Amino acid sequence: MVRLLGIHAVAGFMIGSTLAAIISPKLEATVSVSSTPTCSSDAIRLHLSDPPYENYFYEDCASSSHVVVTSPLENSNLTFIGPRLVVAWPAGNSGVVAFFAPENGKNGTLGIQLQNSIVTGQTLNPVYLPSKNPSSDNPQVGISGIINFNSSAILTVPILGSIRTIRDFTEGPSILITYIQDAIAFSEIPGRGVSLNRTWLDNVTTTYLDFVPINGSGAVSINRAVNTTLRFESGSYQFTASFDYPQLKPLSPSQVLDPSSSDLTQQNVDQTMSLSFLSYTTKLLAGAWRFLTYFGRDSMLSLLLLQPVLSEGEGGAIEAVIGAFLERVNRTDGSACHEETIGDYTTYLNRNKNITSTAPQCDYKMIDTDYYLPVILKNYFVDSTIGKSRLSAFFNITASVLEENSDLTYADLALIAVEKIMNTSAPFTADGGQIKDNLIHLKEGEIVGEWRDSTYGIGGGRIPYDVNTALVPAALHSIAALSSAGFFPEHPAWNETASQYAQVWEDKTLRFFEVTIPQSTAVSLVEQYVNQSAFTGPSHTDNITSDIVFHGLALDGNNNQSVVRVLNTDDCFRLFLLNSTNQTQLSSFLDQTADHILQPFPVGLSSPVGLFVANPAYGDDPVYAANFTNSAYHGTVVWSWQLAMTAAGLARQLGRCASTTPPDFCAQTALHAKIHTAYTHLWDLIEANAAQLSGEVWSWEYDSDGFRVVPLGALPPPPGTSPTESDIRQLWSLTFLAVHREEF
Ligand SMILES: *[C@@H]1O[C@H](CO)[C@@H](O)[C@H](O)[C@H]1NC(C)=O
Ligand SMILES: *[C@@H]1O[C@H](CO)[C@@H](O)[C@H](O)[C@H]1NC(C)=O
Ligand SMILES: *[C@@H]1O[C@H](CO)[C@@H](O)[C@H](O)[C@H]1NC(C)=O
Ligand SMILES: *[C@@H]1O[C@H](CO)[C@@H](O)[C@H](O)[C@H]1NC(C)=O
Ligand SMILES: *[C@@H]1O[C@H](CO)[C@@H](O)[C@H](O)[C@H]1NC(C)=O
Ligand SMILES: *[C@@H]1O[C@H](CO)[C@@H](O)[C@H](O)[C@H]1NC(C)=O
Ligand SMILES: *[C@@H]1O[C@H](CO)[C@@H](O)[C@H](O)[C@H]1NC(C)=O
Ligand SMILES: *[C@@H]1O[C@H](CO)[C@@H](O)[C@H](O)[C@H]1NC(C)=O
Ligand SMILES: *[C@@H]1O[C@H](CO)[C@@H](O)[C@H](O)[C@H]1NC(C)=O
Ligand SMILES: *[C@@H]1O[C@H](CO)[C@@H](O)[C@H](O)[C@H]1NC(C)=O
Ligand SMILES: *[C@@H]1O[C@H](CO)[C@@H](O)[C@H](O)[C@H]1NC(C)=O
Ligand SMILES: *[C@@H]1O[C@H](CO)[C@@H](O)[C@H](O)[C@H]1NC(C)=O
Repeated sequence: MVRLLGIHAVAGFMIGSTLAAIISPKLEATVSVSSTPTCSSDAIRLHLSDPPYENYFYEDCASSSHVVVTSPLENSNLTFIGPRLVVAWPAGNSGVVAFFAPENGKNGTLGIQLQNSIVTGQTLNPVYLPSKNPSSDNPQVGISGIINFNSSAILTVPILGSIRTIRDFTEGPSILITYIQDAIAFSEIPGRGVSLNRTWLDNVTTTYLDFVPINGSGAVSINRAVNTTLRFESGSYQFTASFDYPQLKPLSPSQVLDPSSSDLTQQNVDQTMSLSFLSYTTKLLAGAWRFLTYFGRDSMLSLLLLQPVLSEGEGGAIEAVIGAFLERVNRTDGSACHEETIGDYTTYLNRNKNITSTAPQCDYKMIDTDYYLPVILKNYFVDSTIGKSRLSAFFNITASVLEENSDLTYADLALIAVEKIMNTSAPFTADGGQIKDNLIHLKEGEIVGEWRDSTYGIGGGRIPYDVNTALVPAALHSIAALSSAGFFPEHPAWNETASQYAQVWEDKTLRFFEVTIPQSTAVSLVEQYVNQSAFTGPSHTDNITSDIVFHGLALDGNNNQSVVRVLNTDDCFRLFLLNSTNQTQLSSFLDQTADHILQPFPVGLSSPVGLFVANPAYGDDPVYAANFTNSAYHGTVVWSWQLAMTAAGLARQLGRCASTTPPDFCAQTALHAKIHTAYTHLWDLIEANAAQLSGEVWSWEYDSDGFRVVPLGALPPPPGTSPTESDIRQLWSLTFLAVHREEF
């Protein structure tokens, strides 16, 4: 599992204008560092070990790099795990990968690792050079380090350019684009080294990767066969990876946090440095290294949970998230952008359409992300004093990321996005309109649309539970509050209409998803699941002492399932986003939520490794157990942010008992005690899994000692697929910086 090895923070850049002058080139070749900018805050250096992956982060005010070195372990499956060097950069979602193989041809015999520089004592050192390219004003920035090979090695495949191009190779069916590969220039450089460069499809930006032997290691040689490869002897080589693309402006740990939370930089060094690495003035990034760019849902969910600790005001983290979202709204229909495509990959996608353009693009297939906007706008621009003071200046900003939005202000874009919500939620609120057809569906032709965005994530369903029962009503309540605060003057009646809509969606949607399974049927279904699935633990069916009630993941699922009968953690959305007011409904909702948190899997969701986000035991169709496994991304696995949102949601509901008009459940002694016990149990699980919480998702194995945490990527993948390599740090897995156990 992930273990924090060492953290070093050093001030700014290396001292002196040229390092080359102070080091013997024979010992350790270096990049000359000239005109280095002075940074006002310390550089971030973080080493996270997650064998077979070693992760190194470096960030200062001029550039950010994440280096991942993979070296096979004795028990690694060599079909998937080979010696590999990745350098990932947020700017342009760019990077470099070099795949190595042992020269002797025997897989598993080549080990690679990074060594500390004897000059600086650091593993990574920044590169900063004026651009070599007359047509670019951007400095050439990146990272330098020392890589050691334990035997002679061949660099078989380099890819220079976009992380998306690299992911197409590592995750897809090993796609290499010939004209992109052929554009790599190889040349010998002084010091018996070799330099690779590739100019992007924009004809302007160039990515460089250099290797120079040090400490008496042999020369690097170029073999120009069918595809050019490099040969290294066993020993140490200084590598330098750099590029000359416009850089993002990072938010340092003290800039990303609200001043009232500045202590976190001492208390949670790893998480605050990780948060800072993912945070820039214009956007927060989803994860490193595979998702090092804008993702709508990831940033909005993270903001919702992290808001109490994030910086407010101009140039702060909160406005970075909101601005990034508004910039990318589809002006035609108001949809939120899920993932942006930028850098070399957008030029590539445009070229595939015979378009010569470097213009960024967006993917608009998700349906959930839209609804986070009003909630977030209300939380900041209505409820925060600083937010209120920023209102006119912020919404007056003209969009600049997407060319097609460049004549719109943030106010225009917010209005377009909210009009979509008002228009699409109206039919369900009409007289007699509370029918399934009027619920929010996935977009035509898409099989995903919310956070469970894998093939079987919502069991083939078309109408997701989280969106319809929580996100829509929460968004509508917020629109009403925004309207009351003077927003959307074009629609002065929204203070009332949005409020009416919200009430209907809040009260009348749960029933569509409700599943009630009689006690005896529930017992036999769980027994059947344990007999037929790979799970070898106890069934715990003695715990089933009444009918089982829960809300299915979606409607209209695979195999003609009207409700996808998978028990799940998505109750957290309603807990966290709605103070619902129908007391009968609220009490029974909380009652079943508490049961699922308390009951051990496969009766409920609880396990020593955390709450499983899905439990297919009550499905009564083999398709459920087959698709919701412990190697599925949204199967019987644990997600950090779902734990955080469930904990924060229960705390919000329990917190209502201290208000002047407490909900009925507060006085229902047994129920209140059960909810409180569930809250305490959840926090015990969270604390027991502290080592996992900053990762995105984790899985488990079960043996005679019970449950044991296992990385998802370490389990045998479904036939014909590769294991999912997880991001060592994911934005929405840093939410425990703000979510804490509370006393009630
Ligand atoms: C490695 O994974 C492949 C594909 O899942 C599998 O066929 C093979 O048996 C595995 N090898 C080992 C040594 O486990
Ligand atoms: C050896 O490594 C190559 C990739 O470098 C891979 O294609 C091949 O499957 C591996 N062989 C074994 C036996 O794992
Ligand atoms: C050479 O590279 C191309 C991609 O540019 C790839 O499709 C091909 O398989 C490679 N050939 C060999 C022999 O590795
Ligand atoms: C890339 O390398 C080639 C070969 O050494 C060289 O001619 C070219 O100028 C380099 N390109 C850039 C932009 O540095
Ligand atoms: C880059 O240059 C090539 C060759 O001149 C040209 O075909 C292509 O359109 C240019 N690409 C861009 C994005 O300008
Ligand atoms: C924006 O929405 C419209 C209407 O749904 C759609 O036709 C268009 O393709 C979307 N834009 C992009 C870039 O996907
Ligand atoms: C792009 O142009 C090529 C050559 O003219 C043509 O074969 C191809 O169909 C075009 N692609 C698209 C998406 O228009
Ligand atoms: C909004 O922008 C316009 C034009 O850029 C400017 O004249 C106006 O003063 C701005 N209003 C506010 C409140 O900042
Ligand atoms: C809604 O706003 C209008 C003014 O635009 C006001 O007359 C009305 O009282 C408001 N409704 C509520 C419920 O606050
Ligand atoms: C509250 O919800 C229940 C269903 O849980 C329903 O039977 C009842 O009519 C609702 N009460 C009101 C006042 O809407
Ligand atoms: C579930 O059953 C186990 C024994 O199998 C028992 O220890 C536990 O207290 C029960 N839990 C609940 C919540 O009923
Ligand atoms: C719900 O009520 C709690 C406690 O009164 C409050 O802190 C929270 O902001 C409310 N949430 C919403 C979405 O209204």
